This record gives sequence, C-alpha cells and structure tokens, in this order.
Amino acid sequence: MTTTTQTPIDPSLDLFAEIERLKVERKAVILAHYYQDPDIQDLADHLGDSLDLARTAQAETDAEVILFCGVHFMAETAKILNPDRIVLLPDLEAGCSLADACPADQLRAWKAKHPDHFVISYINCSAATKAESDLICTSSNAAKILKAAPDDRPILFAPDRNLGGWLSKQLGREMDLWPGSCQVHVTFSERKIIELKTRHPDAEFIAHPECEDHVLRHADFVGSTRKLLERVRDGDRQTYIVGTESGILHTMQKAAPHKTLIEAPVEQGQGCTACSECPHMKRNTVEKIYLALRDLQPRIELDEELRRRAELPLVRMLELS
Ligand code: 13P
Ligand code: SF4
Repeated sequence: MTTTTQTPIDPSLDLFAEIERLKVERKAVILAHYYQDPDIQDLADHLGDSLDLARTAQAETDAEVILFCGVHFMAETAKILNPDRIVLLPDLEAGCSLADACPADQLRAWKAKHPDHFVISYINCSAATKAESDLICTSSNAAKILKAAPDDRPILFAPDRNLGGWLSKQLGREMDLWPGSCQVHVTFSERKIIELKTRHPDAEFIAHPECEDHVLRHADFVGSTRKLLERVRDGDRQTYIVGTESGILHTMQKAAPHKTLIEAPVEQGQGCTACSECPHMKRNTVEKIYLALRDLQPRIELDEELRRRAELPLVRMLELS
C-alpha cells in the first residue's frame, strides 16, 4: 500500500502572508461562507451566502484556482460551474447533514414512484442529487424559484423539510417535503428564545428558514444569511437575537459595530453543548487553507457526464435569480 505524506508546515511561517503570496503565485481566488471562522472570513476575496458564492464562482474568469472555504456541496457547485479550473476544498470531510439526507439513488427511487412530480432541490445537496432535480434553489431565491415551477405539476421539495415548509406557508402552495434537516438549525430552543425575547422586548428575533417551524413562528424576520446580515446592518433596532450559525456574528458585528447581537440559544446538550456552530464548516482552518494552496490539494473532481446533468438545473436557477 502506498501512503502519501504531506510535508509538515514550517512553524516559523506567517501563514497569512504565505496565503497571500501563494494566492498570487497560483492565480487563486478564495471564496468563503459566513459560517467560516472569523480569520477565514477576513482573508477571503469574496464572502457571501450560498447564492452569492455560486454566482461569484460562475462569474470568476481570471482565476486558475478556486479555493472554497465552505462545505463539500458548495465547492462541488463551484466545480460544476468551472470544470476547467482547479477547485480546492481545505477539508474534503466538510459535509452537511442536509446533503447526507438525500442521496441521489433515494431521490431517483422516489421519482420513479412519483413520475409526475417536479423536483426542486435546495443547493445543499450533492452534484448527483442536483443531477436528478428539475431546478435548484438557495434560501435567498427559493420563493422566486418556486414561483417559476409549473403550476400544473405537484412539487417535491428536497432535502430541507423546514425551508420547504416555510416556503409552502409563505406562498400557499402545497409541496411534498423530503424529510431532511440541518443539524445546526434544528437545535434552537423555542422555550429559551421566548424567555430571551421577554428579557429583551425591544430586540428583533431574526432567523434562517432552516430553523424549525416552532422557532420560525417567533421570528420577526426570516431570511438567508445575507438577508439576515443586511437586516442587522440596515434595521432600526439596537438589539438582534440571531437564529443561525454563529459564525456570521463576526461579519454582522463588523457591519453594525454599535448594535448588540445575541446568539439564539440552543437546547441543552444539542449542538456543541451551548452554541450553534456547524462542525462541518468549522473543519476548515487557516493551516488547511495554506496547505491546500501550497499543494493544490484536496481537489474536487467530477465525472463530466454527471457534471453536465447537474449543471442544467443549477444554471437555470442562476438565470432565474
Ligand atoms: P445560505 O447561505 O443560503 O443562507 O444557507 C445557509 C447554509 O446553511 C449554508 O450551508
Ligand atoms: Fe449543512 Fe447546516 Fe452546516 Fe449549513 S449549517 S453546512 S445546512 S449542516
């Protein structure tokens, strides 16, 4: 058996300076999601929500290398849109409970039993699952995408039952919902949020639509990560209770330095005991980013036929949004 050993990192290196140097040398661009560690958000060339990052990946013309600081399905999305560029993910194990909930073979089997359904998949799924879908959406554009679906066909919304349920209520359209959920957004405690709102009556509770219905019911505003960020930046309240992954508080606080931000509380024993961090997002580190740029590994590779099938509903989404 052959084993590959990685050259260790020289401890005297300034990793931030090295990353800047390697970025130029490799003609690389760094994309990061708001759920990354603060240091990673700060070193990124583009920071955004899932839709922003997919659009940026599509618009990227000069870079030879895209280093994606997010989770696997996000880097895979960048590769679907950029087959000729090297797409790096600092840690290939950075997964997602939503993507895991809807493997392509299970979706294919479901479709075989329900051939009349139109399938809308949340971007939080694998390339193989995207390839089985009629349209893709993100939390930013989900309402617009749903409105573009044919009126005369039943809809399956996969894999997030919470986002699907919220959309269904907003637009008054019945949908079949795949039973997946985000392991982070389901941990928020309704009871503790009610208590917090009572203690801070002037605060606004803002939440991501991946939260469960009994939590969203108490939200004053529901939106994607970018919309939550804009709400805090532009809103007239002094205090916000933030119901999404806690990484975003870093950029929110920078956007609204004088406002008070409170992480929405989770149930005891849920999440990382008392916080709402995504363990997959947090697998990426500055060290792994440096190694990825140094070694041009680990890369996202996709079978070309699969890539082409996954590209169709994704490009359609980008055209509609
Ligand atoms: P958005 O970036 O669309 O808000 O989605 C959040 C998320 O869970 C990404 O994994
Ligand atoms: Fe997946 Fe939830 Fe983590 Fe986003 S926060 S990557 S939806 S597990």
